Amino acid sequence: MAASLSSPSAADVRRQDRWWVYPANVAAWLTLFGLYSLWTIVFFHSDQFHQYLSPFYSPQVAVGRTPASPALFIFYIPLGFRATCYYYRKAYYRAFFADPPGCAIREPQFLASASPTGRGSAYRGESRLPFVLNNLHRFLMYFAVGFVVVLWIDAYNSFWYHGHLGFGLGTALMLVNIVFLTGYTFGCHSLRHLVGGGVDCFSCALGGRQRHRAWKGVSWLNARHSTFAWISLFTLIATDLYIRLLQYGVIHDPHLGF
Ligand code: FES
Repeated sequence: MAASLSSPSAADVRRQDRWWVYPANVAAWLTLFGLYSLWTIVFFHSDQFHQYLSPFYSPQVAVGRTPASPALFIFYIPLGFRATCYYYRKAYYRAFFADPPGCAIREPQFLASASPTGRGSAYRGESRLPFVLNNLHRFLMYFAVGFVVVLWIDAYNSFWYHGHLGFGLGTALMLVNIVFLTGYTFGCHSLRHLVGGGVDCFSCALGGRQRHRAWKGVSWLNARHSTFAWISLFTLIATDLYIRLLQYGVIHDPHLGF
């Protein structure tokens, strides 16, 4: 008997598992991250303790030039990079717009036409404002790589205590943070395309061997992109919070001096 090729009905694909745990978690953590970022960026003017500099405040391009928080002048680049990231787009479309809420889960009818990404008659995908801005991701990627370089320099500087070599808990946090941020940034889909996307044959392309090696590295990170995306979000907050607590004298930094 020939197998049926017709599409499965909604009843066929109704899921019995707790599919809502993932979008609920995403919504909760992204909301918390958004509120924390707002708090640290808007209500303070610095987050530095001796050799430690918070990643929210680096690079220090506007320090001393404005009465407003200098973080306000740079935050939109890393924020824009994350907000337009292909992985985060999937995550927050599901979590905040239920569009769709999960694989094989139908979009709620009341949202289908009301949600900005909803599949009502006015559905425009990412071709209209505000979601057309997601197409800026490939350009923001270049700036994000620049931020990674700056944060590696900050991590290096965190080894120097008043001109002497040292290693504190803050140094460890800054290092862990930049390692995961690097893993997140260099696993970017746009970077993977840049490195190997336009090449049909690596052995025929200029610098093909090196490009193939780079593409394999980026592909390894890319396959773990969501893991790096989440861990780097938490290391970012942990580093910022730790330095702020040091700055306000709430805790002390255990460290070794050499
Ligand atoms: S796709 Fe996630 S950072 Fe580019």
